[in-house]
Amino acid sequence: MINKLITAVLPLMPKSLVHIFAKKYIAGEQLTDAINTTRNFETLGGKTTIDVLGEFVTNKDAANHEKDMCLNVIDAIDKHKLPTYLSIKPTSVGLGIDYNFGFENIKELVTKAKSLGVFVRLDMENSPYTDDTLKAYKQLRGDGFDNVGFVIQAYMKRSYDDLNSLKDYKPNVRLCKGIYNESPEIAYKDFHEIRENYKKLFHFMTDNDFFIGIATHDEYLIDFAEAEIKKRGMTEQNYEFQMLLGVKENRRNELLTNGHNVRIYVPFGEDWYGYSIRRLKENPKMAGHIAKSIFTFNG
Ligand code: FDA
Repeated sequence: MINKLITAVLPLMPKSLVHIFAKKYIAGEQLTDAINTTRNFETLGGKTTIDVLGEFVTNKDAANHEKDMCLNVIDAIDKHKLPTYLSIKPTSVGLGIDYNFGFENIKELVTKAKSLGVFVRLDMENSPYTDDTLKAYKQLRGDGFDNVGFVIQAYMKRSYDDLNSLKDYKPNVRLCKGIYNESPEIAYKDFHEIRENYKKLFHFMTDNDFFIGIATHDEYLIDFAEAEIKKRGMTEQNYEFQMLLGVKENRRNELLTNGHNVRIYVPFGEDWYGYSIRRLKENPKMAGHIAKSIFTFNG
């Protein structure tokens, strides 16, 4: 109830006030902010992935502009030898406008990244784009690109079949719960069901030699993953933990201290406001998390 109320009221608040809510989760407006965040986390032994925040892309010019921003990120990663890679939302470079147009933009990014030894992650957006995102991944692998990975959402009922259909690639996959509001026909809604599916997908991936980015802040799943890592003798070749910038920082640092690789997701860009409001609308629970961060200063 409180979450819904905050979500409804936030878009009416002045930008400066929303900034108070959002700033912990966004590196800043400029690429240099993302570079600095990466450098700071590197001093703790961590890595990052950088994401350019873009408005909803409805035309090809905007998609090309977004692609150019991503090319700048790849250049910066190479120039500064940063322990990071690029994460992209496929629709931000045009996949939602036209598959072939979006695919060519993604391919241009992955081609440049490959030439510089940089990895590219295709984030997973809402369900209308799942098929095309996985199709783009398959097509890139078919074209010989091995510096690319995707994301699988444990709340989607189709996820097991998706992983099964891609297992021969031995892919690098970020496993998360999923953040969009999906219908109960296609997505698990129950908290426990989502956790159970997360565990099922984790087992499938480890049984089939995937690289897993264990992207969660859920204490129960982190404990589960740590126990499995120990039991299976998994190494940094097989997994890493992933968290969002500004979330559960104490737990994140504890994972580093325990000898795990940890990567944080670092969004930056002038559209931090649109991004924050969209995220809050997509998932009212986020409003509660963000509100909470005002009162707890250490994640
Ligand atoms: P859950 O939501 O149950 O949170 C567990 C606990 O963590 C909460 O009780 C709270 O204490 C804390 N917490 C979680 N999120 C918080 C927040 N934002 N602020 C403060 N506290 C928070 N989704 C997607 O659909 N496509 C994608 O490509 C990605 N990519 C991605 C990358 C990375 C690195 C991460 C960590 C997450 C994503 N996600 C995502 C988001 C993901 O699907 C999911 O919505 C969030 O991680 C929250 O789920 P948890 O597993 O953390 O559990």
